[in-house]
Amino acid sequence: MVYLNPHFIKRRARRWWPYVVIGILLIYGYYQGMFNQLSVGDSVSTYAKMETSRKTLKEVFALQRQVKLLKSVLKKYSIPETEYSDVLLPVIYVITPTHNRPHQKAELTRLKSVFLHVPALHWILVEDAPKKSHLVSDFLETSGLSYTHLHHPTPSEWKLKSNDPNWSKPRGVLQRNAGIRWLRSKFIREEDPRGVVYFADDDNTYSTELFKEMRGTKTVSVWPVGLVGGVMVERPLVTLPAPNADPQVTGWLAGWKPSRPFATDMAGFAVNLALLLKKPEVEFSLSSQIGYLESDFLKQLVTIDQLEPKAELCTKVLVWHTRTEQPNMKDELRLRRAGSPTDQGIEV
Ligand code: UGA
Ligand code: MN
Repeated sequence: MVYLNPHFIKRRARRWWPYVVIGILLIYGYYQGMFNQLSVGDSVSTYAKMETSRKTLKEVFALQRQVKLLKSVLKKYSIPETEYSDVLLPVIYVITPTHNRPHQKAELTRLKSVFLHVPALHWILVEDAPKKSHLVSDFLETSGLSYTHLHHPTPSEWKLKSNDPNWSKPRGVLQRNAGIRWLRSKFIREEDPRGVVYFADDDNTYSTELFKEMRGTKTVSVWPVGLVGGVMVERPLVTLPAPNADPQVTGWLAGWKPSRPFATDMAGFAVNLALLLKKPEVEFSLSSQIGYLESDFLKQLVTIDQLEPKAELCTKVLVWHTRTEQPNMKDELRLRRAGSPTDQGIEV
């Protein structure tokens, strides 16, 4: 009889109904996405960003499928690639050494923002690390770019120590060579591979126009680099031997050692893929004299008269050798020592 007692029923109802109502509201809210705003940090914009990169990725994959399909149709009708290769852009293979530091993701993001505007670009990103990091893997996966992710550690005797001046040891050498070797193995069976190779350090500033200039590289193309070697601009000096003749690089304008056979920074040249692959021994060398990394590399590929001057006869600056200031981590180190770093659970 207790169950029929109206007071008891009232009490029960008072206890249970709020839970039922809250439950329904929670389920409704979940499906409406109302709780996205309640999680830690800016998860709404993270969600929006993930959606955008997923969309970009989808578009990239759809385009790749279309290209594959078109190629298979052309193959089916036995149309040789030579018939249509001139309408396909030569791919620019960009080799970038990168290493872990607080601003690594910021640097890679600046590069990505430019590379996304460049058609037919394949990014070979090589980490100076014993294994691939989650940060770089995740970054590339959602980048929407065509890429290859490699790693190659620099042995500790070749790494800069914290008090070493930055010029005292060469940087990115083994990583660029790992990128070159990847290209060699990819094109091992191809007789005359089309493409261009560019070595893009992760801290420089690149314009989209630069890639248009280098696209047609037949041997080695060269252009000015801003803010490098202690001067506003280092650049090849160009002359026109005759009104209709090809322009010739005859020397270099540089502050530091203009007598180098190729007085250019890494950012100032691109190499034709077939030319690079034709010479299987060509690599960067750890034992190059300080500042001669680029010159020693180019010496193995061309002579100065074979260089192709770009960027309006080397009068336009389309790339800058910027260097990022070390971020101030004074308080972060203190908090880290106290066991509460600010980036706990957040990737920066
Ligand atoms: C200059 C040139 O612009 C570089 O191309 C050249 O490698 C370097 O000198 C040199 O002489 O070795 P700089 O700005 O002084 O460049 O060099 P960084 O930008 O510090 O390093 C070049 C590349 O190597 C960057 O992409 C960087 O991320 C990478 N790096 C640097 C590593 O992979 N590991 C390191 O320990 C340090
Ligand atoms: Mn640099």
